[in-house]
This record gives sequence, C-alpha cells and structure tokens, in this order.
Amino acid sequence: MKIGIIGAGDVGGTLGKIWRQRNHEVMFGVRNLQSQNVQTLAQMDKSLRFGDINEAVAFGDVILFAIPWTSVEETVHRSGNLSGKIVIDPTNPLTPDLKQLALKDTSVAERIADLAKGAKVVKAFNTIGAKTLNNLIFGSERADLFICGDDTLSKRVVGELATDIGFDVVDVGSLANARMLENLALLWIELALRQQLGPNIAFKLLRRKAEF
Ligand SMILES: NC(=O)c1ccc[n+]([C@@H]2O[C@H](COP(=O)([O-])OP(=O)(O)OC[C@H]3O[C@@H](n4cnc5c(N)ncnc54)[C@H](OP(=O)(O)O)[C@@H]3O)[C@@H](O)[C@H]2O)c1
Repeated sequence: MKIGIIGAGDVGGTLGKIWRQRNHEVMFGVRNLQSQNVQTLAQMDKSLRFGDINEAVAFGDVILFAIPWTSVEETVHRSGNLSGKIVIDPTNPLTPDLKQLALKDTSVAERIADLAKGAKVVKAFNTIGAKTLNNLIFGSERADLFICGDDTLSKRVVGELATDIGFDVVDVGSLANARMLENLALLWIELALRQQLGPNIAFKLLRRKAEF
C-alpha cells in the first residue's frame, strides 16, 4: 500500500516506521523538511520518503492526518485533491488541559469529511498512545483498534493496515460514531495520565458466544 503521512511527530513517525517495516511505501508530507522529527526519521530509515503536503497526498492511496486537530482545515486546503483518497483521522479535539473535547455535536473526522469532498474518511488510531503502537501485545491479548467510517471498503483497507501492525480491529459503524471514539480517547488519557496507569494500556472488547 502507498501511504502518505501528514505530520512526522509521535503518531505519524511511529506508524510510518512500522508500516515501512511491514513493506508499505511511506511518504511523509511536512511543512519543514529541516525539522528535528524529519531528520531523526530520515536517519533511522533511509527508505522513508519526505516531501511537502501535497506531494505526500498525491503519492498515497491512504493518507494519515497525524497533525493537531486545529490544523486539519489548513491541511485539507494544502493537500490538493483528496477526492477518492482514504483519509485516516487519528486526531483528538482536546482542550489544552487534556480533560475535555473542544468540539460539541460533531467530531474532527466529520469536519474533515465536510472539508475534503470525495475523500473517504476513517477514524482510527486515536484511542491508544503513540508509543504504545510499537508493541500491541498485552500478555495473551492483542490491543483492539476501534475504527469507524461511512465507506465499507475503506474501513477494510484501514483494518488491514491495523492488523498488519498487530491490532485486533473493531468496526464501530458510521463516521458519526467518531464522536464516541474521540470520547474514548479521553478515557485513555485520564487512565494513563491522571490515574497514573501510564502508557502501557490499551482497550479490549471481550466477546463470547451467546449465552442468553
Ligand atoms: N501522541 C499520542 O499519544 C496520540 C495518540 C492518539 C492520537 N493522537 C493525536 O494524533 C495527532 C498527532 O499527535 P502527535 O502526538 O503525533 O503530535 P506531535 O508529535 O506534536 O506531531 C504533530 C505533527 O504535526 C505537524 N503539524 C502541526 N501543525 C501542522 C500544520 N498546520 N500543517 C502540517 N503539519 C503540521 C508537526 O509538524 P512540525 O514538526 O513542523 O511542527 C508535527 O510533525 C494529534 O491530533 C493527537 O491528538 C496523539
């Protein structure tokens, strides 16, 4: 798969490195090719590519918006043509104190879908810490990734990219349910930071055959 990653920070850098190790083609779209994040990634893996935002969007069949939620509008405008692309939204619209969501009655994922006409938006990778992505095995369990979106085929593609790096995937339904996933991220942050469980935590949906 050809993946364009906008943003080379914790989430973008971590997923980009892992997907490249799984033999996907990865190009980062960044606003500053000289940044420390870019230099570090380029030294770590010489096969990673870097360009500006619209180059990475043109390169990828799948585009990951690994940027602050406040930058999505600007990024959509700088992306060029996103029509037909699968856009993964891992952002969380957090207030500066990380205690609440700044958006009411909508989600960042729905905003991206409104702004980027023709893009197939999938909410994913927002309910787990960036560093935790490096190892998704917890004892005998794998971490779950909750994803949602309105296009079934796009969810299947994103689900395969998630399975590739070790997740079990749970489809949460339509893109409007991104509001739930953005709230679920708040729970992860509360547990990891304020309840001091640390970043080595992940959500798991338990299932069993019907008993009643
Ligand atoms: N960190 C986590 O554990 C975690 C977990 C789940 C979800 N998320 C969400 O994932 C997103 C990325 O988080 P992160 O931790 O990776 O952030 P980060 O480490 O701060 O990296 C953000 C990246 O976005 C780039 N960026 C910022 N504004 C931009 C703009 N206007 N146009 C283009 N690029 C821009 C930055 O580029 P520069 O280097 O040029 O500043 C940087 O490469 C956030 O929305 C966050 O809520 C984070």
